[in-house]
Amino acid sequence: MTSEPVPPQPTLVDGAVTLRPWRADDAEAARLQHDEEIARWFHFPGVTPSAEQQGAAIERWQRDYADGRRVVSFVVEVDGRVAGSVEVRRTVGRDATGHLSWALFPDFRGRGHAVTAVRLLVDYAFGDLGLARVEAYVDPDNRRSVRLATRAGLRREGELRGYESDREGVRRDAVLLARLADDPEVGTGEMFRAALNAGLPRKRTISQGLVRNERGEVLLCELTYKRYWDLPGGVVDPDESPAHAVLREVGEELQVPARLRRLAVVSWLPPWQGWDDAMLYLFELSVAEDEVARATLEPREIRAIHWADAETVRARCAPYTARLIEHATQLLDAGAPTAYLEDGEPPTW
Ligand SMILES: CC(C)(COP(=O)(O)OP(=O)(O)OC[C@H]1O[C@@H](n2cnc3c(N)ncnc32)[C@H](O)[C@@H]1OP(=O)(O)O)[C@@H](O)C(=O)NCCC(=O)NCCS
Repeated sequence: MTSEPVPPQPTLVDGAVTLRPWRADDAEAARLQHDEEIARWFHFPGVTPSAEQQGAAIERWQRDYADGRRVVSFVVEVDGRVAGSVEVRRTVGRDATGHLSWALFPDFRGRGHAVTAVRLLVDYAFGDLGLARVEAYVDPDNRRSVRLATRAGLRREGELRGYESDREGVRRDAVLLARLADDPEVGTGEMFRAALNAGLPRKRTISQGLVRNERGEVLLCELTYKRYWDLPGGVVDPDESPAHAVLREVGEELQVPARLRRLAVVSWLPPWQGWDDAMLYLFELSVAEDEVARATLEPREIRAIHWADAETVRARCAPYTARLIEHATQLLDAGAPTAYLEDGEPPTW
């Protein structure tokens, strides 16, 4: 393999933390400080590497640095002692992208030194190496590392299933965290919000409409893709309001003009048959009965629509939908304020 000339590996300093190139005489200090935590997350077969293994690793890092800096590994030094290591590895086949990894030895943990070391490494990757993106793949159970990556300015982008095998050969998921060269600076409010926002749950929201006729019957859709009849409505799009969503959905499904009367119920739906939990907003809508008779059904989704009395609702709807409709109609008839339900029922606490 041809190697391009590379500048000498620099030494980088921030307060008590120094990143410097590996030297052959670091081997003993490094290998003896390995612990179960490091072995676990790096999937090493044993805890303490042999002198030969550690020596060979240092030689490999030195070779890889010389070989176009395809891997750059630094010793993390704290107060002049070997405290761990951080590494950036160019991702093969990807443009200007690097893969980060880190480990701090047990005596040096819990003081923020790992965050400092990874920030120095990231600045080096964007500056000296000219990378545009750095990534880390962290086991979801390795919470300290997920926190550390976030503090170092990486943003959570998603979870990869069955990403790699652990020591027992069990496939493990990984959280993908990444930072771009032009992301907001670490420590600014903008970056703080972006990082936090990326890690927060995005709960699903469903918005449905309760349409009743003069006989008190409820409008239900017979669907092409599931056996239960359901209320008109659907999933709220990203950045869409529940109220807008229900009108949009009714427009798409039935092509009838609908007016919002009020929010009848908010119901939390627990996880169900492989679906994640969700928040359901049930709005009372007014649609004239003759408009319903002229509805044009969206043929891929809606087979037919029906006016259903209470008995038909119980017979045709999923149990939680039947409960929801029963409670919502009772509340509306009583002129009660908007109610909060869980799984279609008033919660008991
Ligand atoms: C992951 C690892 C490097 C984290 O080390 P660490 O010292 O806990 O990491 P940090 O530098 O982030 O220290 C932060 C902790 O110090 C505390 N702290 C104290 N002073 C601090 C300061 N001035 N600034 C920031 N944090 C400080 C923080 O409260 C934080 O604790 P918390 O995470 O419980 O909230 C270490 O656990 C490790 O080596 N694990 C094994 C290797 C590994 O998992 N590598 C990743 C494979 S992808």
